[in-house]
Amino acid sequence: MHKMKHNLSSIKLLTNIDEIRSLLTGCGLPVTDISDASAIQFYGIEEEGKVLAVIGLEKLADVGLLRSLTVAEAFRGQGLAQRLVAHVESMALHENLKTIYLLTQTAAQFFEKLGFTPLSRTTAPAPIQTSSQFSCLCPDSAALLRKPVKNLEDGR
Ligand SMILES: CC(C)(COP(=O)(O)OP(=O)(O)OC[C@H]1O[C@@H](n2cnc3c(N)ncnc32)[C@H](O)[C@@H]1OP(=O)(O)O)[C@@H](O)C(=O)NCCC(=O)NCCS
Repeated sequence: MHKMKHNLSSIKLLTNIDEIRSLLTGCGLPVTDISDASAIQFYGIEEEGKVLAVIGLEKLADVGLLRSLTVAEAFRGQGLAQRLVAHVESMALHENLKTIYLLTQTAAQFFEKLGFTPLSRTTAPAPIQTSSQFSCLCPDSAALLRKPVKNLEDGR
């Protein structure tokens, strides 16, 4: 496997759902509710037309559900996931979302380092509780975390 240093391509809105699904499947993340019709915005990094990192933001009323964060194995450990999370946070601010939620079975500590805090699933707001990821896709053992969306520039 080649481990090449990635020279920081920009993060783009991704539209090729098949490419996204294939990266997610390869990294063990669920794809059953991801289709051209789903209301999830995907952002990511592509190289030579291939998606090597992806993150999704599903808008649910006034909150966001961060999902499908995946970096292809050969490109891990270079800060790409952190850049994608920061990008989604700025998109959430732009969209006037108040809080970002996420469910994860594998990366709770990664998100805690980025300022997300765990909460009980029973205290999640209704739009999150009824999302397909929450109600069917992620097992009960998955951790729920959240982070308020803040405008870093004015420190609010
Ligand atoms: C989790 C994942 C997205 C991280 O991608 P990445 O680009 O390697 O992460 P970054 O380089 O931005 O961040 C690396 C840091 O996060 C830490 N980290 C990476 N994966 C982690 C995990 N699963 N749990 C805890 N910490 C993790 C690293 O130790 C490193 O810490 P450091 O900065 O203190 O050295 C990647 O491993 C992945 O795609 N995993 C498979 C899919 C998955 O589990 N996604 C999360 C589901 S919500």
